Amino acid sequence: MTNKLIAGNWKMNGSLAANAALLQGILPALAGAACEVAVCVPAAYLAQCQTLLAGSSGELGAQDLSAHEAGAYTGEVSAAMLRDFGVRYAIVGHSERRQYHGETDAVVAEKAQRALAAGITPIVCLGETLAERDAGQTEEIVKRQLAAVIHLNGHCISEIVVAYEPVWAIGTGKTATPEQAQAVHAVLRAQLLAASTQAGRIRILYGGSMNPTNVASLLAQPDIDGGLIGGASLKAADFLSIIAAAS
Ligand code: 13P
Repeated sequence: MTNKLIAGNWKMNGSLAANAALLQGILPALAGAACEVAVCVPAAYLAQCQTLLAGSSGELGAQDLSAHEAGAYTGEVSAAMLRDFGVRYAIVGHSERRQYHGETDAVVAEKAQRALAAGITPIVCLGETLAERDAGQTEEIVKRQLAAVIHLNGHCISEIVVAYEPVWAIGTGKTATPEQAQAVHAVLRAQLLAASTQAGRIRILYGGSMNPTNVASLLAQPDIDGGLIGGASLKAADFLSIIAAAS
């Protein structure tokens, strides 16, 4: 297994001043980190963050990308544009995109394909809602979401990162227990292994109210290979504690 990946998802937060202060608080500590660290920043700040990350081991990530290559798609950002700014990772299929922007499994799979074609690693997010969990549908939902991505990208599926983010745990302070998360990660791992003999090296991240208190028990699970961190990635001290736990 490769080293763990800790990725911050800043969502629609930040400003020139706040981003600079946050990265200045994080980057000096990265030299000693034994895990990989990325920050997925708003598109408007890619240039700023590329400059701030230069010379550090921190990687730059985007939060979304267009399913189209180029053309008349007002407001969208293409994979090639992200590449121009040195983007290494792009989140695709975050539940907030699925929920507020109507992204379907098929669109998410196309976005993953665009990213891969541009040499960007997609962080494919999937997860069930509370109603789906309560109805006993968790496994069925996450398998369906992942199957769409495998279907379109099977030949290079070992190049993706997966993030299991139960919707009910995002921004709520409720975290999946390590056992709940591991159970889903094991399902996803088996599905990936059935698609590719190389799937053992695919990193499956957990996301959803991960914080300095719960990170160690989550990362101790055999199929949890890192974290996708929302709120706690906006506080340098918290993000550094999570990085330390993964190192
Ligand atoms: P929180 O860590 O704020 O719950 O957000 C998780 C998330 O959505 C990361 O993509």
